[in-house]
Amino acid sequence: MSPSAPRSRAQRRSPATRTATIQEVADHAGVSIATVSRAFADPASVSDELRHRVQEAARLLDYRPSRAARTLRVGTSQAVGVVIPDLQNPFFTAVVRGIEAVLQAAGYTLLLANSDEDTARERNNLETLRADGVAGIVFVPINPARGTYRQLLVPPLHTVVVDRLPADLRADLVTVDNVAGTRLGVEHLLALGHHDIALLGGPSRHSTARERELGYQQALQAAKLPLRPEFVFRGDFREGGGYAGMRALMALPRRPTAVFVANNLMTLGAFRALHEAGVRIPAEVALVGFDDMPWATSLNPPLTAVSQPSQEIGATAAELLLERIAQPDRAIRHVTLETTLIVRASCGATSGTPRAAVAPGDQASQQ
Ligand code: RIB
Repeated sequence: MSPSAPRSRAQRRSPATRTATIQEVADHAGVSIATVSRAFADPASVSDELRHRVQEAARLLDYRPSRAARTLRVGTSQAVGVVIPDLQNPFFTAVVRGIEAVLQAAGYTLLLANSDEDTARERNNLETLRADGVAGIVFVPINPARGTYRQLLVPPLHTVVVDRLPADLRADLVTVDNVAGTRLGVEHLLALGHHDIALLGGPSRHSTARERELGYQQALQAAKLPLRPEFVFRGDFREGGGYAGMRALMALPRRPTAVFVANNLMTLGAFRALHEAGVRIPAEVALVGFDDMPWATSLNPPLTAVSQPSQEIGATAAELLLERIAQPDRAIRHVTLETTLIVRASCGATSGTPRAAVAPGDQASQQ
């Protein structure tokens, strides 16, 4: 992705998903995702002025709401199960907010469960929700042994997967372009003059971790820099893994001058390790992290981050579920949203640094 003038989110969406999203209509109309959903699912529940704003935005953006959302009666007692791997991780809770805004407006109740990255808990959550007769499930898989989901996620239960897709699961999916997002972050460090760039990566059982590692490799190969095994530490996507990984990287005989950290919680651990060791950021080690977070501007120094449209991910997943409920035999859809690089001080950039698809540093993400 070469540097170019920032494009609208609609323009940046991959060709397979050219229609505008509910988030773009909400942004354009200056209302919430829930208001957009209600304006289509139950127009009488929205004021004339708001309904007109939503309809005008939808017309301008050529937005086609989920047919299921329009046809579903508001107030149905149907419930939808949502299972996420870590209730304390702000990325996942932001995704749930996006899911809730769309499903609540369509008359669905959310039943939220936390698998806590534990395969037994995940199995129990999915079995309980199926036994409760939910209309569908939106979940972030933690990838147990192959075949597990085929036993659990059987019709008439409808499923939409968010974030990472297990190799043996055929289901609707909403994720982001992890390869391009990571590549953009590493290219930003390269543009700042760094050559000794390390990766604090995630667990390879997750597609998100593998794709981010691929983006890191592609950026270095495009710059004709060697891939040095000692510069790749695969953590656990948790704060402790970030802490341990950064300590290991700082103990190398030839330390990296920059580190790309593959998710939000490990970035917190990385900061803790560097501050404990008295390593100055960015003067001694420049940092870019995947996942912007509400607290990114409170870190010292504020974090340069690859931001995921978390609420839009959730809203899009909810729309896919509504369509799946209305059309069970519809073809499987994978929606890939794009990320944005938000440049702050942890990478060492100063004003005027070449930026591609970059928002100004003071722009909070959608968390
Ligand atoms: O900690 C949340 C991270 O794990 C996010 O990057 C999300 O993409 C998931 O992979």
